[in-house]
Amino acid sequence: MASVGVTANKPVVKAVALCGSLRKASFNRGLIRAAMEICKEESGIEIEYLEVEPLPMLNTDLETPDGGFPPVVEAFRHKILHSDCILFASPEYNYSLAAPLKNAIDWASRPPNVFAGKAAAIMSAGGGFGGGLAQFHLRQVGVFLDLHFVNKPEVHVHAFQPPLKFNQDGDLIHQQTYHQLKQLLLSLTNLSLRLQSNSN
Ligand SMILES: Cc1cc2nc3c(=O)[nH]c(=O)nc-3n(C[C@H](O)[C@H](O)[C@H](O)COP(=O)(O)O)c2cc1C
Repeated sequence: MASVGVTANKPVVKAVALCGSLRKASFNRGLIRAAMEICKEESGIEIEYLEVEPLPMLNTDLETPDGGFPPVVEAFRHKILHSDCILFASPEYNYSLAAPLKNAIDWASRPPNVFAGKAAAIMSAGGGFGGGLAQFHLRQVGVFLDLHFVNKPEVHVHAFQPPLKFNQDGDLIHQQTYHQLKQLLLSLTNLSLRLQSNSN
């Protein structure tokens, strides 16, 4: 696992954020932007957004005989490996996680699985259940990945019910959700630090 950085005697947890939506005004991507804003105020965690769009569709024929990956996949895996934890923004497509996110996860899971032992948190925005069903599928996938998920708070945003949660650009404009994200980041930071201290 990556070692937690320190700023002014305070540990700083490094998170990478992955979003399953490729839509320009994606609400889920908006949640990541909001989380990154929160990080500017809170010094305990920093987030790097990793694009999943440039990754090819998973095909193990693209791997080299010595276990190498296409450069774009290699770079993606490297960022995850050197992070402390993962922040997923998972839209729900047909009651499950979206294909772009699953594709990215599958690349990262190829041996050696770069997710192994890390803390993770999920947030989602969607229709009926606010993406909650996709979150449960993602948790199931995370068992094989050996991810440790934050359980509380559960952040599933009902994007199509009043009050308005996002503007036309997909930016979060709902204070209550913003507060939930703060709590989620706090839980993710704490779990990351706990896992790190257990592994030392
Ligand atoms: C193919 C497809 C399937 C969808 N299935 C669901 C679903 O099962 N449950 C749900 O709540 N929303 C569903 N939606 C709606 C999306 O969750 C919603 O459009 C959401 O805003 C997408 O995330 P984004 O704004 O980050 O792109 C579906 C949308 C698409 C395109």
